[in-house]
Amino acid sequence: MTMREFRSRWKAPGNEPEPVQSAATPFYAMWDAVARFAQEIRASDFMAEMIRRRDAYGSEGVMGALDCATLYGLTRWLRPVVVVESGGFIGMSSTFILKAFADEKLATAKLYSIEWSEECEQGGLIPDELRTLSGGFVPMRGKVEDFLKGNQLPQKIDMFLHDSSHSYRHMLWEFRQFWPRLRDGGLLVSHDVQMNAAFPEFVAKTYAHDKKTGRRDPLRTSHYEWGRWGYIGFAIKKAEAAS
Ligand SMILES: C[S@@+](CC[C@H](N)C(=O)[O-])C[C@H]1O[C@@H](n2cnc3c(N)ncnc32)[C@H](O)[C@@H]1O
Repeated sequence: MTMREFRSRWKAPGNEPEPVQSAATPFYAMWDAVARFAQEIRASDFMAEMIRRRDAYGSEGVMGALDCATLYGLTRWLRPVVVVESGGFIGMSSTFILKAFADEKLATAKLYSIEWSEECEQGGLIPDELRTLSGGFVPMRGKVEDFLKGNQLPQKIDMFLHDSSHSYRHMLWEFRQFWPRLRDGGLLVSHDVQMNAAFPEFVAKTYAHDKKTGRRDPLRTSHYEWGRWGYIGFAIKKAEAAS
């Protein structure tokens, strides 16, 4: 997305306050936008219906409502074309990514959803109309490790969601594998960042500081923005960090 497209998306509608933004913090306005999208879906009948379906299925191991709303907000904000998620399971997270595709009318967008276990109905919670939406949902049964080894995943992606094994080692490994595949402005998203220090440690490594002042050096720092909301963490990649 160009910066012009980025700015034009965030004009506050109606009486809402203009988001705060400056040349030094060009991505600050995203917080308003993501919060607005998240609030919209959180209060929707769609969310109520998904919670009902999830609870009927058994909610163990499935993303909660607050995190689904954040994921939806981030996806709508980014408007990605290629998304990879690890740990697709029965598809709560997949549903909210696909719903964001639908609400942004992203007709060609694809979600590659990787799930290892043969014992679950992969994507079983996804409503039919979202599952069939122009072939946007691409279920892949197997381990992330094997799909990467077999070179079966897209080289260039707009967004990656980690929601597979939440061991420190595996989380850090996935972040390191998928970060180089993200385009400039692409999003790394992780669920369950509260489980260990993998996410904050990964983000800490994307910083560069001026030796004299100790302040962040924006030219050498390789993220534009990052944050945590609930159990979701995200980082926006800056590809052309100066060395
Ligand atoms: C927390 S659940 C995912 C929940 C799902 N995102 C949702 O919201 O419905 C984690 C899933 O990751 C899968 N998993 C764990 N390690 C994996 C790996 N290395 N590759 C692929 N899937 C993996 C597990 O089988 C499990 O179903």
